[in-house]
Amino acid sequence: MFKEFEPRALEILAKMSLREKIGQLNQAVMPYDEASMKAFKDRLRRGEVGSIILSTSATAGNDEQKAVVVEMLNDLQRVSVEEGPQGIPLLFGRDVIHGHHTVLPIPLASACSFDPELCREAYRTVALDATSEGTNWTFSPMMDVCRDPRWGRIIEGYGEDPYLAGRMAAATVKGFQGDDLSDPDSMLACAKHYLGYGFSEGGRDYNRTEISDYTVQNVVLAPFREAVKAGVGTVMSSFNDISGEPVTSSKKYLTDILRGQLGFEGFVISDWFSVQQLIRQGIAEEYEDCAHLSINAGLDMDMADEHYSRFLEGDVLAGRVSEETIDRAVLRVICVKLAKGLFEKPYAVSKSVDRKEFVRVAERLAADSMILVKNENNTLPFPKKTSVALTGPYTFERRGLQGGWALDGYLGASTPNMEEAMREIVEGEGGGRLMCTGGRMNDDSNYIFSHSDHIVLALGESYEDTGEARSLSDISLPKAQIEMARKAKMSGKKTVGVIFCGRPVALEEIEPYLDAILIAWHGGTRAAHAAVRTVFGDYTPSGKAAVTFVRRTGHIPLYYGITCSGREVNGYYGEGASNCYTDCPASPLYPFGYGLSYTSFEYSAPTAERDEIELDALKAGEKLRFAVKVKNTGERAGKEVVQLYIRDLKASMMRPLRELKAFKKEELAPGEEREFVFEIGYESLGFYLPDGTYTVEPGRFEIYLGDRSTTTNKVDITVK
Ligand code: BGC
Repeated sequence: MFKEFEPRALEILAKMSLREKIGQLNQAVMPYDEASMKAFKDRLRRGEVGSIILSTSATAGNDEQKAVVVEMLNDLQRVSVEEGPQGIPLLFGRDVIHGHHTVLPIPLASACSFDPELCREAYRTVALDATSEGTNWTFSPMMDVCRDPRWGRIIEGYGEDPYLAGRMAAATVKGFQGDDLSDPDSMLACAKHYLGYGFSEGGRDYNRTEISDYTVQNVVLAPFREAVKAGVGTVMSSFNDISGEPVTSSKKYLTDILRGQLGFEGFVISDWFSVQQLIRQGIAEEYEDCAHLSINAGLDMDMADEHYSRFLEGDVLAGRVSEETIDRAVLRVICVKLAKGLFEKPYAVSKSVDRKEFVRVAERLAADSMILVKNENNTLPFPKKTSVALTGPYTFERRGLQGGWALDGYLGASTPNMEEAMREIVEGEGGGRLMCTGGRMNDDSNYIFSHSDHIVLALGESYEDTGEARSLSDISLPKAQIEMARKAKMSGKKTVGVIFCGRPVALEEIEPYLDAILIAWHGGTRAAHAAVRTVFGDYTPSGKAAVTFVRRTGHIPLYYGITCSGREVNGYYGEGASNCYTDCPASPLYPFGYGLSYTSFEYSAPTAERDEIELDALKAGEKLRFAVKVKNTGERAGKEVVQLYIRDLKASMMRPLRELKAFKKEELAPGEEREFVFEIGYESLGFYLPDGTYTVEPGRFEIYLGDRSTTTNKVDITVK
């Protein structure tokens, strides 16, 4: 996809001086003040900059950022194209993580929609929104598989499962990059953080990781494989080391695996100052050492710390880096710029966008991402024509709804809060009555509880407790919220807790006080409308947990794709004397894949078209077909996510008790029964050996078809 541009890139390369080549490998920080702008333009004239990052701080997701101004970007582009030595256009990179002005739910929430197509559609709108203002490269999607919700950055990824993460990563890449990357509306995507950052020890950000080659191959790499297949143009290397090997300077990860095994053709950019970070990591002693260690490993572009521009020329002269290595990296960068169409259309054309459509898609995705985890005695949906008490810290909150990494999200009326959404939907449309308080303690919530028929508690965690460098040692809800729920329970009124969060918060303590619980996540611009319309029945919930909900923080790590212990099953799939904690159950509060609806679905026993197959036939492309009938047994239409898991019962390496291999999300009318058919083949029944060889081993497999990871609805097959 990118290599096809090489002949033209070679012609450009042939005219470049060493300094100009190194310039292409340098991503500089945007100078926003007049004083430095003049000197910066001179750098562009000398060809010292290949890309600009539109951010000014190390943790862009947490800090106020300057707005993107299209005229400013076009002015810099003009200098580069018209006055730069070879007229090579710039790439403007920004963290457009889950939205630009219209903000989608955090990626972890989107994964709970189990709807890659909707995700692709939603990210297309983000590309339209951001490119119309000049950003042509986003540092998204983040696809770090994460099994430790203490890590603040769990919000940015797709949860604990490699298969789901791969499907969502590919969909997001396709959404950003569109059908034709050279289209000015398409945005170059960046698969990050390569590799293993989601395994930061203890959930502490920037920490070391300890990951075996076996887990790298089968879990951590999986979404990157899919992103590469989907044509992602760039990859960002991660801050962490893997078992003592910093990724920034690792030939094994950046070249042998990424290029050799995955066949990635685009270019690799470092993370913010991660080249220089090699000193702290104890791999480089002096500043002079960081650049050559990184580029020789396969890191093409240096983000922000200017080590490449300061040291690479000297490295080439001293023979520490060959000019071929520089050329290879420059070729990759130029090929991506050519593929992006920047040589033909370097300038952004600001255009008006159909924000109403963006908002509609954002609300659909937000609604489909929400998970109903508890609904005792069909508490929900509430009738609209009723009196409702609304309180809790998210009653008037706006910014928090958007979640972390929303650099450019419109606030004010563009992000309605819960009180506004309820006034519109409950009072305006439904003729109900709303009473609300701000959710402080010692407020009059007791009064409104006793004077209303239904209670909505808008609870959750602050977006400030999520994102980069925002890890927590305790992921339960604040005590004041638990106390508020207790008071609501004492009032005897039907109570729903709508939980706005960035991670799967631990709900063990609050759960008994709530009749219904809707996980609304940090759902973006339309979070409040999506939540209120769900609570009052305009939407039927259909989200499923993309990550396990532990009971309490001490359960971490807990994930469904575990192997069987030498005793029983580690507690995930049922309690057993030898597997439990002695102070609490070991099973999750809500397992991976779980989520309720306002209707109910009945599953038939699954069937297999055949119960055995020859390995050679599988290899030759034959598929196995499995079917399950699902019936909507309730009185409402509802979407169900039918999930297919496998278990390889005996193999040369221990295999997980369940592995998600396929899913389908479809709507069923009341009373409707539909057969869901899945075809799986060679690519689904095997695994990677630690050296990266893919293998399918003969033997028995269990095939599970159900509504969550802990389903027992299965059929067996044999590979001979
Ligand atoms: C983060 C990246 C981000 C980059 C640029 C880093 O601190 O780890 O995810 O893209 O900053 O803002």
